Amino acid sequence: MPSEQNNFLTWRSRWTFILAATGSAVGLGNIWKFPYIAGENGGGAFVVVYLFCIALVGVPVMVAEVMLGRRGRKSPISSMRRLTTEAGLHGFWNSIGWLGAIIGLLILSFYSVIAGWSLAYIPEMATGAFQGANAQTTKTIFETMLADPDRLVFWHSVFVAMTIFVVAFGVTRGLGVAARVLMPSLFVLLIVLLLFAYRYGDFSAGFSFLFSFDYERLTLRGVLEALGHAFFTLSLGVGAIMAYGAYMPAEASIGKTVAIIALFDTLVALIAGMAIFPIVFAHGALDAAAGPSLLFISLPVAFGGMQAGVLFGSLFFILVTVAAWSSAISLIEPAVAWMAEHKGVNRFTATLFLGFLVWLLGLATVFSFNDWAEHKVLGMTFFDGLDFLTSRVLLPLTGLFIAIFVGWYFAAEHAREELNGEQSVIWSVWFYLLRYLCPPAIATVMIVGLYDSLVAGG
Ligand code: PHE
Repeated sequence: MPSEQNNFLTWRSRWTFILAATGSAVGLGNIWKFPYIAGENGGGAFVVVYLFCIALVGVPVMVAEVMLGRRGRKSPISSMRRLTTEAGLHGFWNSIGWLGAIIGLLILSFYSVIAGWSLAYIPEMATGAFQGANAQTTKTIFETMLADPDRLVFWHSVFVAMTIFVVAFGVTRGLGVAARVLMPSLFVLLIVLLLFAYRYGDFSAGFSFLFSFDYERLTLRGVLEALGHAFFTLSLGVGAIMAYGAYMPAEASIGKTVAIIALFDTLVALIAGMAIFPIVFAHGALDAAAGPSLLFISLPVAFGGMQAGVLFGSLFFILVTVAAWSSAISLIEPAVAWMAEHKGVNRFTATLFLGFLVWLLGLATVFSFNDWAEHKVLGMTFFDGLDFLTSRVLLPLTGLFIAIFVGWYFAAEHAREELNGEQSVIWSVWFYLLRYLCPPAIATVMIVGLYDSLVAGG
């Protein structure tokens, strides 16, 4: 927990930072989104590109974000303003701060609707609705839920309320416990599901789908999606990691810390994929390219077939909800922290106000699954469009800005100072990746991928 020290708050140890940042990183992105976009993009080819994006772009940008946060020691918006002013740089770079805060709110509006699905599944599981269910039944249960806007609005509201509750009273109090106890439990439960998939699913089909590199299936759109998801899953580009970095003790090694978080985040995603796809391939009624519904119709089949399915199933969706909760907190925190820095606005009011905006926007996502499902622009529903805009346009864009800012404009000796714990080889590799690889790579993938998605592919 932060303690007052040298005029700024710092966490007691590097591990608290690791837990908080992991709480932010591990969420619906790993368990819900990664498997379904891997499925939509043909599996293996996508996964390989995704892993490259994490290692070569995601990790360097994450190091940069933590570094900026620790250097700035304030809310992301104020940190960026402080760093640019101190260095006498153009105010344009402040956009990294405020653009990030806005993107966080946009993401949270749909994130909370999906987390609401997970909440809705807890009572379903607990009352045994899925016991003995086959794939057809789980599909019907899911589709019935989607068709009912009232139910979706209810659970979306509950989730927004949960998020507001924690953030309004200060992030650090509840978050530590959640991360320390619940994250490991989620990990254990995913392993249990993996074992189930191994025993009862078509494990080898799932494995080769996810890990065999099939060049033919690779599309430009898939590459853009892999890059965007690398940012999304590591919580980059919205200021979340910068906000937490501000509390990091000065002597902790940023490089090692980031490596641990990225590794854990990737492991959770891959295990979730390996729990889901063997079940998909063992049941004819399920489709690997099912999209956002994948998690919610595939895993319930597994729970329905388990002895202790009621218990494990309820527990699983509780843990998914908690993972989403700790991510949601970090999505709204940058905007709240900034508003609360102003005189006359306290944290409580700021949270309530921003939470309400997020809730309102979330309604459009709710309706895009039922009443407005037929209203499409460029072939996308409101939810598709918002996901596209945030993950494939805005997150890579702020990622690009961060790479250019730290690689080219931020004083290298200051970066060197913050990354003092690193060996010089690691420092050089990081700096060269950020300077020479990340900017052109992100820009190219964005331009080509967006052209393909919007113009060529239609
Ligand atoms: N990383 C979170 C997830 O994978 C989502 C998130 C994105 C959280 C950006 C904070 C900032 O679910």
